[in-house]
Amino acid sequence: MKAIISDIHGNLEAFQAVLKDMQYQGATEIVCLGDLVGYGPNPKECIDLAVDFDVALRGNHEHALLTEQEGANFNVKAKGSITWTRQQLNPLGEDREGNLRRWEFLDSLETTHRDGNILYVHGTPREPITEYLYPRDIYRPEKLNEILEMIDWLCFCGHTHSPGIWTEDMIYLTPQEVNYRYHLVNKKTIVNVGSVGQPRDGDPRAKYVLFDGSRVVFRPVEYRVQTTARKIRSIPQLDPYLAERLLQGR
Ligand SMILES: [Fe+2]
Repeated sequence: MKAIISDIHGNLEAFQAVLKDMQYQGATEIVCLGDLVGYGPNPKECIDLAVDFDVALRGNHEHALLTEQEGANFNVKAKGSITWTRQQLNPLGEDREGNLRRWEFLDSLETTHRDGNILYVHGTPREPITEYLYPRDIYRPEKLNEILEMIDWLCFCGHTHSPGIWTEDMIYLTPQEVNYRYHLVNKKTIVNVGSVGQPRDGDPRAKYVLFDGSRVVFRPVEYRVQTTARKIRSIPQLDPYLAERLLQGR
């Protein structure tokens, strides 16, 4: 059984809680869809936990670190956190050896991963690093159809920080609407796995999914969110709003 995670964003407490949950649930393989860093207070520790994963993809935050192109998609808070994260990963500083190893790992991340008829991306198949797929895109069939055409059967993505399911019938379903379990059928389907470290679905619990080949299970996991929020508030370069939004899941 695979555990598929995304958007950890330097939140060590959420990451550790999710790793523990997936182990308890019997996951044997881990796929990470990107954004290990950015926003959160523990970028190095989160990178170190991901180095042995079976698959790890590049998110827009890793891309920004590697290319120094924060771009139009980054607001002031995101840019500030990327600058601070870059300082933590200084390859000329105290932790030179560790940071060189971390940069090597970040630079090795693929933008997409294909496993038979299953595709894994951070954003969407047509713009794997940057494009968002929104629930309201069922009203934009030209966008959704173009994306579905690039998928053989199933696609897992992240990036919006909100879990959900899109089908080729132009239907969008939340995890709550399917009671957190979705049996896949012979139709093209896209699954957003949600965010481990900065959920924006109104529920502050960490999110990820389990996948056994035919069924997707959405897992909300409680973690010590107050600890992470306290760490963020203690770092002047990180905007205190980044702590507040974790408490609200927004
Ligand atoms: Fe993200």
